[in-house]
Amino acid sequence: MKTPDYGVDAPGVIRNLLLVTVAGFLIWITARMGWWSGNIGGGGVILPLSHIAPWPAASCFLMALWMLYDSKIGKMRTREQLLDNHRWTGSERVLDVGCGRGLMLVGAAKRLTTGSASGIDLWQAEDLSGNRPEATMQNAEAEGVAYRVDVQTADMRKIPFPDATFDVIVSCSAIHNVYDAAGRRQAIGEIARVLKPGGEAIIDDIRHGREYVESFAATGCTSRSVGSAIASIFLAIVTFGSLRPVTLLARKTS
Ligand SMILES: C[S@@+](CC[C@H](N)C(=O)[O-])C[C@H]1O[C@@H](n2cnc3c(N)ncnc32)[C@H](O)[C@@H]1O
Repeated sequence: MKTPDYGVDAPGVIRNLLLVTVAGFLIWITARMGWWSGNIGGGGVILPLSHIAPWPAASCFLMALWMLYDSKIGKMRTREQLLDNHRWTGSERVLDVGCGRGLMLVGAAKRLTTGSASGIDLWQAEDLSGNRPEATMQNAEAEGVAYRVDVQTADMRKIPFPDATFDVIVSCSAIHNVYDAAGRRQAIGEIARVLKPGGEAIIDDIRHGREYVESFAATGCTSRSVGSAIASIFLAIVTFGSLRPVTLLARKTS
């Protein structure tokens, strides 16, 4: 039986981090070997580039390693923790928004008995390696749930399902890929629209948490953070604010 492969998130970002790593260490090594002074600048302003370069290089290398670890090992554990936020009955109708290769979609489908799970995505290669609907269905097959999973190509800002269709909606590392705030608000509005009254949405993302809470409130959904505040603050500090992970559990009240 095939093993599932949920791809590598943001492969271009990992490649760029590794390029900075190589450049930083080349600057340092070539200066140590005496090929050049290691300094740049002039007119009294000298930057000791070869002394500084190893630090961003090492940070970028650690960041790239962490992203690879998270894509290959960490996110399998994260998916189960995220799905544990809902009390599953097995009969739910589930939607995964920005499902990619089916990490959450297949994980949710495995918790169903009579229910079904749908995924929507635009299959953007820059967001996930090997991002194709066929790869998602192969993963569903590998995990033995293909018969209760379906996928379609759709934009989360215009979800192609009628109002109040789903009991549970999940979305992992996807909504931030809509780059304008109005578009992200529209995506949250669509999630709220297709959620049944009393239904729950589990939203996990790398930033924009406060914005999502406000957008849910504007649609008549309550939401609360269920992620680790300490981990979120730590990551915000070490990444200079570029990552501020958030996990929200939203409920449609009416
Ligand atoms: C980093 S991947 C995460 C995939 C999956 N949720 C996971 O956790 O492995 C982000 C996904 O969001 C999708 N995406 C980006 N913008 C989208 C949009 N406007 N509508 C639907 N999907 C979108 C990308 O194609 C990609 O599959």
